[in-house]
Amino acid sequence: MKNTLIAPSVLAADFANLQRDIEMINQSEADWFHIDIMDGVFVPNISFGMPVLDAISKHAKKTIDVHLMIVDPDRYITTFKKLGADILTVHYEACTHLHRTLQAIKAEGMKAGVAINPHTNIMLLEDVIQDIDLVCLMSVNPGFGGQSFIENTYAKVKKLKELIALKNAPTLIEIDGGVTNKNAKALVDAGADVLVAGSYVFGAQDPVATIADLKVITQ
Ligand code: DX5
Ligand code: ZN
Repeated sequence: MKNTLIAPSVLAADFANLQRDIEMINQSEADWFHIDIMDGVFVPNISFGMPVLDAISKHAKKTIDVHLMIVDPDRYITTFKKLGADILTVHYEACTHLHRTLQAIKAEGMKAGVAINPHTNIMLLEDVIQDIDLVCLMSVNPGFGGQSFIENTYAKVKKLKELIALKNAPTLIEIDGGVTNKNAKALVDAGADVLVAGSYVFGAQDPVATIADLKVITQ
């Protein structure tokens, strides 16, 4: 039996009732909080920033998985550690010296993640995979919640799983974007370890039951 990790994306929460939604995740079977930080430059949207993450961290009782969709993320590594990030994920496409960035994240005591856009080839991670704790495979173009899942993601998960096995790397595979009960099982069968779900969870009548259902179908 596989324990697939479920990470609700707070981007889809009700920001006027953020504490209520954080407590909902605390009470649920969710494993992580997925936090999307967007700068309006790397992606064509601005989400929320430091004060909001600080407020979330004060209430969140589970692992905080921060997904940075920002240019030049090196500038903020120490800040995100202070704000409570347990996992810090940067975009491959935003890092000129990715290896150095990963070491800097780990030096702060966080797990280091790399997110890759739908058009980015898995094999570009070949020489750095052993240094990556988590690869976040974008299954939509980053910037917005509620988009449709890109089907080519299945092929990428399989290819990445092979690379991780070949290199004997400790890397987890996370899928981010358009995850629902329709694709969750197939993603796990292809090799996914962590599923991010935003609008599917927060748009549901009963988010706690929806999270529980995702846990059951991905075992
Ligand atoms: C997209 C974000 C995702 C988003 C997922 O740029 O990285 O984490 O919140 O939202 P859904 O599950 O609605 O596609
Ligand atoms: Zn994300």
